[in-house]
Amino acid sequence: MLSRQSAQLFNKTPAIRVLSTCNKTFVRTKVSLPELDWDFGDLEPHISGQINEVHYTKHHQTYVNGFNDSVAKMGELKELLAKEPTPAVAREIITLQQNIKFHGGGYTNHCLFWKNLAPEKNGGGQLNDGKLKDAIIKQYGSLESLQKLTNEKLAGVQGSGWAFIVKNLANGGKLDVVQTYNQDTVTGSLIPLVAIDAWEHAYYLQYQNKKVDYFKAIWNVINWKEAAKRFEQEKIIS
Ligand SMILES: [Fe+2]
Repeated sequence: MLSRQSAQLFNKTPAIRVLSTCNKTFVRTKVSLPELDWDFGDLEPHISGQINEVHYTKHHQTYVNGFNDSVAKMGELKELLAKEPTPAVAREIITLQQNIKFHGGGYTNHCLFWKNLAPEKNGGGQLNDGKLKDAIIKQYGSLESLQKLTNEKLAGVQGSGWAFIVKNLANGGKLDVVQTYNQDTVTGSLIPLVAIDAWEHAYYLQYQNKKVDYFKAIWNVINWKEAAKRFEQEKIIS
């Protein structure tokens, strides 16, 4: 198994690359895999090192590449539209938007996911006293009730999707649990606090058809410290 550092070095695409040609300087901006705060095997026994390695180096990398390619293609299509403002070009743009939504969602959702996870030795699974804990108790009665609701939403995903615990800025900052399909993400007034991947690639190598066991186990490595930080940072829309 590759170490996390090796994999990151191997896969890393610079977020911003400055190219100098003759007298011109171009700034090329691309997204890249985020650095992880832990090693692939650090979430065991709840999520295996093999799953994390494949998930990060293969699946997440695919979304990174797909998003960068789609955005670049969009730039080309916008230029083409300026020359050929036709329904055919407009249809190409609409088609490409689906790719941007899918790969862009995959890129951002997985960035959230990795940051949402922490090894038990680093406090994974621990919800400390604070504003987020108070809000959870006030709305759901207990952390266990919120976990149960989230697991029900995750189990309800038919095919591939995600569940997000969010802070709804348009609803007084209340918590909510949102389920999406494919790589659809949460945007706008919904601030993601915790994102849980319900795609088969997130659990199958370890849990096979017992995805409910994966949904139970992942709570042992949820990074509540990160969730609390996001909860407290985001201000309510008045
Ligand atoms: Fe995934």
